[in-house]
Amino acid sequence: MKKSSSRRLPYSDIDLSRWKDYQHILTDSLWLLKSRKRTDGHQLDYHGNFIPQIAEQIMLRYTKTDDIVVDWFLGSGTSAIEAVNLNRRLVGVELKADLVEYVRQKLPLEVIGSRVRLIQDDSTSESARQRVENALREMGSEFAQLAILHPPYTDIIKFSDSDADLSNCPDTCSYLQKFAAVAKNAYETLEPGRFAVLVIGDKYADGELDPLGFKCMQKMQDQGFRLKSIIVKNIEGNEIAKGKSNNLWRYRALANGFYVFKHEYVMIFFKR
Ligand SMILES: C[S@@+](CC[C@H](N)C(=O)[O-])C[C@H]1O[C@@H](n2cnc3c(N)ncnc32)[C@H](O)[C@@H]1O
Repeated sequence: MKKSSSRRLPYSDIDLSRWKDYQHILTDSLWLLKSRKRTDGHQLDYHGNFIPQIAEQIMLRYTKTDDIVVDWFLGSGTSAIEAVNLNRRLVGVELKADLVEYVRQKLPLEVIGSRVRLIQDDSTSESARQRVENALREMGSEFAQLAILHPPYTDIIKFSDSDADLSNCPDTCSYLQKFAAVAKNAYETLEPGRFAVLVIGDKYADGELDPLGFKCMQKMQDQGFRLKSIIVKNIEGNEIAKGKSNNLWRYRALANGFYVFKHEYVMIFFKR
């Protein structure tokens, strides 16, 4: 009998010679995820966090064991928890000092400062880029092997009072300028031949849809990122129970001729 030898991609632990064994890894562009994973250290403790399955799917697909992921909008640290669970390393940047402290306390003590580095800074800034580069160097790598960007969806959720916070931009134009600065930092710190993921939704205001997802996608492409995939993901698992407001939105939709958002995007980019 012929013995199959392992066949691995340069950016993943997936063995293509056993490709039928990876049923848990999604390859379709429509993600209808039933519910939020609440095991292995995850909880719905931060309004605006993404569901752990996003980090899990992306890391399994686009990183190898011990690779370093940089999350430029760390929030409550979903990606950091998942990186620890999957034996990846992570550098996380977050503007809110109290949140950075909260994430530090959620993670196992032994990974802090070694396999996980937390940086409190403004991700649009030169200083954040330099601090990420320093962290990567101290972890023995010139570049990150995966970048994650899950910015505020403009002001849909206001995260803080800081002017540096993307959720406090007065309009979409200034928001996109700030987002472009983060995309630049992400591009410059990412290893060539590796991937970046943008998690983003659109916005509806003043009777009009603002396609924020596609505008941010364009900013990523302007930096040099090549678009690989646009995944449409349902947002049901993101939401805290909101039966009454669901009905209200349904009424508003019927009355005003629009459709209620039930999806967001997970966009995959590649750096040549
Ligand atoms: C959508 S949340 C990210 C949630 C995260 N993926 C999680 O699962 O918890 C966006 C985060 O970006 C942070 N943020 C906003 N502006 C920022 C900036 N200029 N630099 C760094 N972080 C920023 C907010 O404080 C917020 O925690």
